[in-house]
Amino acid sequence: MGRLQDKVAIITGAGSGIGQATSLRFAAEGAKIAVADLNPASAAQTVAMITEKGGTAIAITADVGVEAQIKAMIDDTIAAFGRIDILYNNALNLRHTQSQAENDFFAFDTAVFEDIVRVNVLGGVHASKFAIPHMIKQGGGSIIFTSSTSAMGGDVAQYSYGASKAMVNWYVKTIATSFGKKGVRCNAILPGPTLTKSMKEWINPEMEAAFLNILNSPRLGLPEDIANLALFLASDESKFVNGGLYVADGGMTAPLHFVQLQRDHFLPKE
Ligand SMILES: NC(=O)c1ccc[n+]([C@@H]2O[C@H](COP(=O)([O-])OP(=O)(O)OC[C@H]3O[C@@H](n4cnc5c(N)ncnc54)[C@H](O)[C@@H]3O)[C@@H](O)[C@H]2O)c1
Repeated sequence: MGRLQDKVAIITGAGSGIGQATSLRFAAEGAKIAVADLNPASAAQTVAMITEKGGTAIAITADVGVEAQIKAMIDDTIAAFGRIDILYNNALNLRHTQSQAENDFFAFDTAVFEDIVRVNVLGGVHASKFAIPHMIKQGGGSIIFTSSTSAMGGDVAQYSYGASKAMVNWYVKTIATSFGKKGVRCNAILPGPTLTKSMKEWINPEMEAAFLNILNSPRLGLPEDIANLALFLASDESKFVNGGLYVADGGMTAPLHFVQLQRDHFLPKE
């Protein structure tokens, strides 16, 4: 008996990285998965990986930046599996990651901000809006968002991404308080640097070493690390867990900012 036996999960951005690892993990624990992604080939690949191992999954092509496509994603899942127990809002808008507007405050562009928020925030908000009535009718459900440690402080880059994840945190608490009494829980995971496909595309050895230096962990995060936490939040083991923001960052944000100064000046040299 799996930890998610016979539950139905929708996972967005499930064609790659954290979404794909979570789809595989949930399926291995007995859940039926609606694998939703903008990229049909990636979604199909995740479905093939699940079915090869004897699991059950369908591919849904959906741009979570478009409300009509989000509604169709929910409707298609109900048509295929008859219920929704878990909604994992995980997709992100990668279009502007390296753009000047995202990394230079004086180039801040409203259109870029709105495009990022439409996917990273509204994608999950609309999906929740359409999924929650089904969850309430069934007696409950678990909604998870992938937020980010970028929401925890100001920074010198990614002006819209960080803000979008801070907004995600607000909606997590608001959905939790609006529907908790009806059995619908909502929690977020805030990953630190996690070696996904998109991360591997831009991280160079120098950056990897720099990340390792600021982590309090012997290695960077893996998509499976985040999937393990998502599994707990999706399962009935977390029934009393609602409105939480769970950091999974190898201890990156645990120290006070002046830790290096302390190490350099006050602690005995190793
Ligand atoms: N990797 C990290 O270090 C890290 C750190 C903190 C937070 N996160 C968060 O984790 C989540 C997953 O990131 P990842 O690293 O696994 O990314 P990834 O690039 O590996 O996967 C993202 C997936 O989302 C899909 N996607 C993009 N736009 C979409 C849209 N409009 N509609 C539907 N699907 C869309 C892509 O096709 C891709 O398959 C994101 O919310 C991201 O912000 C990642």
